[in-house]
Amino acid sequence: MGIAYFEAERIFRLDTKNTSYVIGIVDKEGFVGHVYYGKRLKEADLSYLMRIAEGPRTPETNGRDRLSFYDTFPQEYPTHGIGDFRESAVRIEDANGHSAMKLTYAGHEIKKGKQPLAGLPATWGENSETLELTLKDEVLDIQVVLSYSIFEDVDAVIRSARIVNCSKETIYLTKAMSASFDMDNHDYDKIVLHGSWARERHIERTPVSYGLQGSRSLRGEGGHQEHAFTAVLEPAAGQNSGEVYGMDLVYSGNFRSLIERSQFDSLRVMTGIHPEDFRWELCPEAAFQTPEAVLVYSSEGLGGMSRCFHDLYRNHLIRGSYRDKKRPILINNWEATYFDFNTEKLLGIAREASKLGIEMLVMDDGWFGNRFDDNRALGDWEVNEEKLAGGLKYLVDEVNKLGMKFGIWFEPEMISPDSDLYRAHPDWALQIPGRTAGLARNQYVLDISREEVADYVFEKVAKVLRSANVEYVKWDMNRPLADVASAALPKERQGEIFHRYVLGVYRMQERLITEFPYLLLENCSGGGARFDAGMLYYSPQIWCSDDADAIERLTIQEGTALMYPLSTMGAHVSDCPNHTVGRVTPFETRGHVALAGTFGYELDVTKISEEERNQIPEQVAMYHKYNDLVRTGDYYRIASYRENHTHDCYMVVAKDKSEALVTFIQVARRANVHSRNIKLLGLAPEKTYRIEGEERTYLGSTLMNAGILVQEAWGDYKSRLYHVVEA
Ligand code: DGJ
Repeated sequence: MGIAYFEAERIFRLDTKNTSYVIGIVDKEGFVGHVYYGKRLKEADLSYLMRIAEGPRTPETNGRDRLSFYDTFPQEYPTHGIGDFRESAVRIEDANGHSAMKLTYAGHEIKKGKQPLAGLPATWGENSETLELTLKDEVLDIQVVLSYSIFEDVDAVIRSARIVNCSKETIYLTKAMSASFDMDNHDYDKIVLHGSWARERHIERTPVSYGLQGSRSLRGEGGHQEHAFTAVLEPAAGQNSGEVYGMDLVYSGNFRSLIERSQFDSLRVMTGIHPEDFRWELCPEAAFQTPEAVLVYSSEGLGGMSRCFHDLYRNHLIRGSYRDKKRPILINNWEATYFDFNTEKLLGIAREASKLGIEMLVMDDGWFGNRFDDNRALGDWEVNEEKLAGGLKYLVDEVNKLGMKFGIWFEPEMISPDSDLYRAHPDWALQIPGRTAGLARNQYVLDISREEVADYVFEKVAKVLRSANVEYVKWDMNRPLADVASAALPKERQGEIFHRYVLGVYRMQERLITEFPYLLLENCSGGGARFDAGMLYYSPQIWCSDDADAIERLTIQEGTALMYPLSTMGAHVSDCPNHTVGRVTPFETRGHVALAGTFGYELDVTKISEEERNQIPEQVAMYHKYNDLVRTGDYYRIASYRENHTHDCYMVVAKDKSEALVTFIQVARRANVHSRNIKLLGLAPEKTYRIEGEERTYLGSTLMNAGILVQEAWGDYKSRLYHVVEA
């Protein structure tokens, strides 16, 4: 690993273990271009890749065609208004109302390590190096510092940009993307993740077409519908081979990730905060820091890319005591009781759950104010002692006496019109003066961009947490942002609210994990609308989806695991018929599917059948047996139900290749067929393995090249685990 500047060639080369990212400076004006990203290279003299010897060449040698140069040159951080008519990465409004910018090389520094970003989530870790490349607009006196970091142990490049106003005039930033790079198109495909509530992160793969395409959110969070992750890949690339470029954003608000295919068949790939609804005042000497973008190149297909994202997020993004720890098996009362619960009912669930080996009771929505349904009381974070007779401490102590931990639900960013908080502070809700703000789930969004509002709510939440031995928090958010205006900002700064809101959420969550470092924090947003890398900096796990049906989850979890580690995916065994789709699946299958995530229960354990209840101790034992492997191992996808409509199969292999767990789900039973041949992945070819429960042994190479035979089970929705252990 290392970052080098080759002065004679005017080339920067960032080498991770298997990849190189190359940037070049050309022309006497010092234009900074993207040269190469891909498999590791050894040469420095690569500037020919920027095609500066071909027409239109550079302004130095062909001043009459400057615009043609701008419109073809692979600018590393493209600007607006001077003749590059493709998508720009940065845009300003200067003191005269103009938006043109020209950035050229002004200097660079190569530093050991990686700096945190004030107020923003960021990857971290020793054994890293950072290139800070400073570009400048000479006319406006504005600097852009592009930051590139690499780590010794992962093939990722982490980028961000800092825009500094060195002039004496106030300017407005109207676009500040985190990363952009250009490359030649090779008939590439693209992958985006689309969805809806209860149907998050479904993979869609289509050819890259001309013009603009990609994904975006203007909801103030990532949302159920689209995701900032994008991949560009060779048409032949599959799970195990082929070139893939993956890009993700470490951010939890409005985003735009795009691919633009130009007239000359080059691609511009870009991600960052969505420029719509973004306008940031930059006074003289002020700076704006963008969130981080993560770039991953894999020559080992999508699987190689996923494993790289997983390692990066596990080792260099997630923090806190639970990062490397097995999480307690929880039982959440949401689908068990909805709002209809009291102390006795919860204790009844806890008593039964504790006998079965479940380790934590999570009390979901409905414990505060007069919240007997979802129409009221958000903001009134006082325990409702009519419901919780004896108070919170009594309940928690009783749960603790059973040997279980206790967790609680909050939705700190929201306010119900029917709440004491709204009656006292109606101006704390996001709303545009003179316009009636729209409700969603009968609630408004609090103006978390205001420090006094965020501080008030934080104190209310903290007071509850200080009052009893609460060891887990589920932080929910059940509607997007609309009618966005803040009573605390002048009119020329209203365009800052969306980003300031996200910064406010980050500040609150940072305070939470600082004051309560032992807490297990699980983020959530109406299911998985805020499952993003930004949130992982604060919480090691995120609720994946409100749809806990084992079959629907196959597609949701496949899309989520494309870049997020299994250790982060909130997954529970829930009741049947499933509350979202009405499907009935075997209890065993529900357990196997939830095992690929954090694992827990979301049902009334006192009401399910004896037969199902009797399976829980076995499932608990299964979780304890496999969770270390699932949490820390390498993930390989073998088959996708989304593609084949009959079965799903994936495996996790220990880093030292000593064991693996294969999960096979037969979604639809076929008639009159032979057993299915499944080729395993990621094992050591020369090691000898045994499949638990079988006598014989196999070489790893046999299991991977010849495969195992999976007999068709009787009926649909059946699943099977194969534990492969070194013999
Ligand atoms: C949405 C979450 O995803 C659910 O699990 C539950 O906590 C509800 N909100 C409660 O209102």
